[in-house]
Amino acid sequence: MQFTEFQDLCRKRLSVHNFDNTSIDPKSIDQILACAHLSPSVGNTQPWRFHVVVKPETRTKILDACCYGNFILGSATFIVVTCDKSSQPQDGKILWNPREMEFSCAAALDHILLAATAMGLGSCCVSLHHGPVHELLSIPEAEQVIAGVMIGMPASPVASPSHERSPLGSVVKVHE
Ligand SMILES: Cc1cc2nc3c(=O)[nH]c(=O)nc-3n(C[C@H](O)[C@H](O)[C@H](O)COP(=O)(O)O)c2cc1C
Repeated sequence: MQFTEFQDLCRKRLSVHNFDNTSIDPKSIDQILACAHLSPSVGNTQPWRFHVVVKPETRTKILDACCYGNFILGSATFIVVTCDKSSQPQDGKILWNPREMEFSCAAALDHILLAATAMGLGSCCVSLHHGPVHELLSIPEAEQVIAGVMIGMPASPVASPSHERSPLGSVVKVHE
């Protein structure tokens, strides 16, 4: 892959809030999650867990209990990404900062978004930490909810106003 292709992919990704109900081949979701599973993780803990929510009734319950928007229902796939806090470093070393497992899951989240974009699909993260997702999906207590992700065919692939970025210079500081 050329760097410019990766640059284009990063530029193409944006948060999609409107999906057109088209279903997606489950194989595509497998491929996207296989990409996410290639993400870096502290001590190679691979702490991410992916809960793919298929049933419309379950999605409605999540929507009613945990979401501010009504966008989950139209997306072809809804995935809840969690961090299994019982994960252990492969090399048996101590994890000095267990929160780094959450950061690792954030990396997996980004792999999902970029992989979906590369497939021509729309995607968006959904904050879920404030809702009773554990009960709704019977998620084990050791798993911390990181976020939800919608994936589907975008009904309107237009960036929201909140897609704008501040100038790069305002977030980069070079230390000589
Ligand atoms: C951890 C996380 C949680 C988010 N939660 C929501 C959400 O609950 N609802 C929503 O509409 N967008 C959510 N977003 C999407 C952001 O609003 C969006 O990424 C940001 O406005 C930048 O726009 P862009 O993704 O189009 O570049 C979330 C993004 C992240 C990374």
